[in-house]
Amino acid sequence: MKKLIAGNWKMNCSLDEAKHLIANIINGVDECQEILDRAELTVCPPYIYLPAVRHACATTDYTSFGAQDCSAHDNGAYTGEVSASMLDQSACKYVIVGHSERRQFHGETDQLVQVKAKKVHENNMSAIICVGETESQRLGNLEKGIVKEQILNSLPQSANENNTVIAYEPVWAIGTGKVASADDVREMHDHIREVLRERMSGADKVRILYGGSVKPDNAEELLGLENVNGALIGGASLKAESFIGIAKHA
Ligand code: PGA
Repeated sequence: MKKLIAGNWKMNCSLDEAKHLIANIINGVDECQEILDRAELTVCPPYIYLPAVRHACATTDYTSFGAQDCSAHDNGAYTGEVSASMLDQSACKYVIVGHSERRQFHGETDQLVQVKAKKVHENNMSAIICVGETESQRLGNLEKGIVKEQILNSLPQSANENNTVIAYEPVWAIGTGKVASADDVREMHDHIREVLRERMSGADKVRILYGGSVKPDNAEELLGLENVNGALIGGASLKAESFIGIAKHA
């Protein structure tokens, strides 16, 4: 299976910067097209930049794009929310749900994440479901249990190998420069594969991404591990050079 290299731009970039970033990513792939033999690239800009990114991607199939979240509702009086159907109409392929920043700052629970993932599936897009333990949970050796619970409670019945990607992102590694060791990542990704096998058929084909301070200089080791089927990249996805640098290690 091709590795998924996904950029999560979070709430960054001016409109001009976003346009330059996607143009530079496309140029970067153009100069090194063998990347596409092993990797699928996608970027998740802020909602408001989706039309600009869509426009930039219109003439190439080098990269797809997606959103960082969606509403749990179909439509109606939900001020500020964006529905999965709207994202589908904006040509999104992926929607990230349950990112730890949503769980942490917006009180999102596994149950809510499950509803959002179901909306993503109903609208024929793929959900990138994020899970991961906090530092204190890891220090207490609770990480495997926590991640198992998050997966089992966040996965809707509609999940299959084509519409679901799991992103393991230890909270303490996000935006901190601290990366989980290769042994820890290997162990957790193997564990996640086992959890998926208990839950669904096609589990061996579900892509499991690692996220948390992925950079070009640690990507080779991380992406070389069995059961690491790609990366979800925050900070390093804001520079075309480093995003492409990571993809080259796929
Ligand atoms: P980071 O973010 O690469 O900046 O650590 C990853 C993420 O939040 O998805």
